[in-house]
Amino acid sequence: MAIVGAGPAGLLLAALLARHDIDAVIVEQRSAEYVLSRIRAGVLEQTTVDLLREAGVADRCLQEGLTHDGIELSFDGGLHRIDFRALTGKHVTVYGQTEVTHDLMRSRAGANLTTDYEAADVEIEGFDGEHPVVRYVRNGVVQELACDFIAGCDGYHGVCRASVPREAITTYEKVYPFGWLGVLADVPPVRPELIYANHERGFALCSQRSKARSRYYVQCSLDDQVDQWSDDAFWDELRRRLPAEIAEAVTTGPSIEKSIAPLRSFVAEPMRFGRLFLAGDAAHIVPPTGAKGLNLAATDVGYLARGLAEYYLEGSDAGLDEYSARCLSRVWKAERFSWWFTSLMHRLPEAGAFGFRLQQAELTYLVGSRSASSALAENYVGLPI
Ligand code: FAD
Ligand code: PHB
Repeated sequence: MAIVGAGPAGLLLAALLARHDIDAVIVEQRSAEYVLSRIRAGVLEQTTVDLLREAGVADRCLQEGLTHDGIELSFDGGLHRIDFRALTGKHVTVYGQTEVTHDLMRSRAGANLTTDYEAADVEIEGFDGEHPVVRYVRNGVVQELACDFIAGCDGYHGVCRASVPREAITTYEKVYPFGWLGVLADVPPVRPELIYANHERGFALCSQRSKARSRYYVQCSLDDQVDQWSDDAFWDELRRRLPAEIAEAVTTGPSIEKSIAPLRSFVAEPMRFGRLFLAGDAAHIVPPTGAKGLNLAATDVGYLARGLAEYYLEGSDAGLDEYSARCLSRVWKAERFSWWFTSLMHRLPEAGAFGFRLQQAELTYLVGSRSASSALAENYVGLPI
């Protein structure tokens, strides 16, 4: 197997394959330090934790991850809890993507498995026939990797999806007219659980990485530059978007990281092209509001690892043949939920005052209706694989 990309999708796939003694080389264009410096997801579904356990890398996540039994929704000056445990019997685990990546990298290094970091000019070919090849330049030397299959785990901007002939792929996309400005800081989280806030000035999210490290986001303009946002300006804006008693309780401090992420919904169909399988952000993007991106990447590679195990160990093509349809069924459910939750919580420039009042009416209905709250909870905690 050749795996392009050492993000969570590529690393987890390799770890799952290693459990079945299936050889996999990972080719990554960046350095390991760079991959670890990207601050992204924070919420893991139970299915994702189960896959980490299956891959033998769940120990630290189970020890240090925070079990969250619900989230809070803030709107119209009030705070309302959605109780996952009561509504679904399930919970989520708050554990950073950086930590997942770190655990996967360490386990890979410990088993002496190869990851070629800082690979330049990565190209793939031959996946429509019997002999796929991944070619790249490392330390000035051209490397050629002949393999049975290629897993394209190289994210939204990667080379794998871009190498598929245009007529073989259909893409669906929605770009949202705003972004998220995120700040990481070593301050205790304002509340034990996450707060998703709908406010006239825009969305805000209070998240966390541990009892001592917080991750906060505010909806921002796509024209904003990170350098324009001082730490003080960020904290002021965050507090303005929270109910008064919560705003007063926010502990501020110097940011360790600050970045702006655009919001996008995107799906490429199918996810298999001969001997090339796309997985994770290479095949689909969700806006981060539903906390689904990393979890979808994990379930994609869960399906792929099962399909490959059936192929190598039982000589069956069935799992590989079903890969694309299985993933896409899950992907579209997550796309719908992430789009809905994003549309409900953000200030949408085109919707005006009427749209804002409608959001408040829908949120009031949501927190007052057991079936509507259950639908949110079920989607947030995730479906079984
Ligand atoms: P990536 O993490 O993008 O990894 C792809 C890798 O491929 C990268 O290391 C890249 O350097 C490498 N690569 C790219 N091109 C090439 C090439 N040509 N050759 C070789 N290598 C290449 N998801 C959640 O589930 N929960 C959350 O709470 C959540 N919060 C988020 C918050 C933010 C602000 C953002 C931006 C995202 C969030 N996500 C969340 C989404 C999640 O981070 C992504 O879905 C996840 O990183 C996808 O993993 P991946 O391995 O598919 O892709
Ligand atoms: C995060 O902690 O980074 C995070 C949490 C929940 C989301 C998105 C991001 O919906």
